Amino acid sequence: MSAFWSIYVIALVAINLIGCIVLIYFTGRSRPGDPKADDTSHIWDETLTEYNKPMPAWWVNLFYATVFFAVGYLIYYPGAGAFKGVGGWSSAGQHDADMAEQEKQVAPLFAQFANVPIADLAKNAKAVELGHSVFANNCSMCHGSDAKGNKGFPNLTDTAWNWGGTPDDILTTVLNGRQAAMPSFAAVIGNDQAITETAAYVQSLSGIKADPALAAAGKPRFDMVCTACHGPTGTGNPLLGAPNLTDGDWLYGSDIETIKEGIIKGRAGMMPPHEPIIGKDRARLVAAYVYSLTNAQPAAGGSD
Ligand code: HEC
Ligand code: HEC
Repeated sequence: MSAFWSIYVIALVAINLIGCIVLIYFTGRSRPGDPKADDTSHIWDETLTEYNKPMPAWWVNLFYATVFFAVGYLIYYPGAGAFKGVGGWSSAGQHDADMAEQEKQVAPLFAQFANVPIADLAKNAKAVELGHSVFANNCSMCHGSDAKGNKGFPNLTDTAWNWGGTPDDILTTVLNGRQAAMPSFAAVIGNDQAITETAAYVQSLSGIKADPALAAAGKPRFDMVCTACHGPTGTGNPLLGAPNLTDGDWLYGSDIETIKEGIIKGRAGMMPPHEPIIGKDRARLVAAYVYSLTNAQPAAGGSD
């Protein structure tokens, strides 16, 4: 906050507090010329008379007390402009302290899993349950609450892995993230017809019915340009995150337009690194959860 706005806020707060005192002072006492108790101007029901009686002193003092409380509060806590308060309290500090406290409570819970291999954690119902809650909080917005993914966001419940499906592969994916990089090949392939042919050949790789003449014309182009990453038979390369194009599992889609779009614009799916966000302990648990989706199901009834 710049000095100007700080002073602006402090002035507003001060004017408000002074305004409160002035208001209480002038409304809390009787003024000359106020009607006296017996000098009534209005009478109802023969006995009810109207006149101005000041509020009781204890009541008025309560209002003064709140104003002084506010002054004390603004001295101790941040509130008056950029002044940080003498108490040293801040919402960020409070948040950090709460987080540290929370971490301290769950640390023993995680400690028991620290040296257990992920494949074993995936069989431990308690670990999988914890991993599931990590997933719900950190992964489901991209991969879906059922982990089935969406266009551009992989389905984690099938056995088609672009980056490998061993426990270590999954943990590496979670900790470090992954950056897929398929550049645009529009210029390399040439014209729209050639791109359509290449896309038709890609379709034929997974048994989709494509025009045989188009696919046959596309094959040499695929062999020349695409096999470098997708492999000579199109089965992909997990080191590059290049998908298997023969398995019928599609990250972006199997229709000819979507495949052409990928060739023309390239693809750059990115899984953000999560070690800085969730740390290693939670990453191992969530990796175990992901691994459990396609491998060992946890024993029913829980185990400790
Ligand atoms: C901001 C969105 C986003 C979040 C959050 C996210 N992911 Fe991902 N994740 C992706 C994308 C996009 C990819 C695909 C990258 C690519 O194109 O290869 C991916 C890929 C993966 C893969 C690799 C799949 C494969 O086929 O090899 C795994 C495993 C994975 N994510 C697990 C997780 C877990 C566990 C979490 C939570 C800790 C998580 N992701 C959070 C977007 C996200
Ligand atoms: C430099 C390596 C590289 C080359 C060369 C390459 N690709 Fe890719 N391709 C990838 C990567 C990596 C991905 C994954 C992109 C992502 O996850 O965002 C991908 C994704 C795809 C997809 C999407 C698959 C799906 O599941 O939706 C198709 C289709 C595809 N490539 C076709 C081709 C064709 C056709 C060519 C040749 C013209 C080609 N690729 C050349 C690396 C490459």
